[in-house]
Amino acid sequence: MSKVVVLNHPLIDHKMTIIRDKNTGSKQFRESVSEIGGLITYEISRDFETVPKVVESPVCRVDGFELAKKIVIVPILRAGLGMVDGIHDMIPHAKIGHIGLYRDEETLQPHTYYAKFPTDIKESLVLVVDPMLATGGSASAAITILKDRGIYNIRYVGLVGTPEGIKKLQEDHPDVDIYLAALDSHLNEEGYIVPGLGDCGDRLFGTK
Ligand code: PRP
Ligand code: URA
Repeated sequence: MSKVVVLNHPLIDHKMTIIRDKNTGSKQFRESVSEIGGLITYEISRDFETVPKVVESPVCRVDGFELAKKIVIVPILRAGLGMVDGIHDMIPHAKIGHIGLYRDEETLQPHTYYAKFPTDIKESLVLVVDPMLATGGSASAAITILKDRGIYNIRYVGLVGTPEGIKKLQEDHPDVDIYLAALDSHLNEEGYIVPGLGDCGDRLFGTK
């Protein structure tokens, strides 16, 4: 069974409260989503493997380290894009793939419209990024798209999750660890996370 990590950090909690506030404007919302993406990345990268690397400092030879695995960030469009800059600031050499999915507002079923990945993604650690893990349908479908292409070293990185979403993801992909900034109570009858932060894509991009 996969691991579920809800990150406990004062800065993450502070910024999560900003984005939950319906009175937060779009500029601060976008900036905070991105910054939380960076803070989460700092926390989840603690167990990234490193290999030795020797460099010459201006003074002498130094035994250092570099990350052992390439990293690919795969945001689920659209809302996942909001977290990418913050993650990329932490891991600037990471490559970026994209999966386009939207949730049918009535059936809540995910529909795929786009998928494009770097050529060396199979040898990389892949961070699937989407702020909202609601029913879990979109995250699960995105991970299935990757696995259908032979990509298996995957972690899910989100902002707000629900017990329903975690259950679905763990059932469908027991090998994919889940990292969240917050675990919320439940989904309402329209499929919104409670208390959540509303429609993340709409708040990021000013649609609606
Ligand atoms: C939102 C969100 C997730 C999905 C989560 O996307 O960004 O991708 O819903 O819901 P689920 O866990 O029930 O599948 P949405 O479909 O609103 O598309 P958007 O990002 O383009 O706004
Ligand atoms: N997608 C969102 O953007 N918000 C929710 O609460 C659920 C799904």
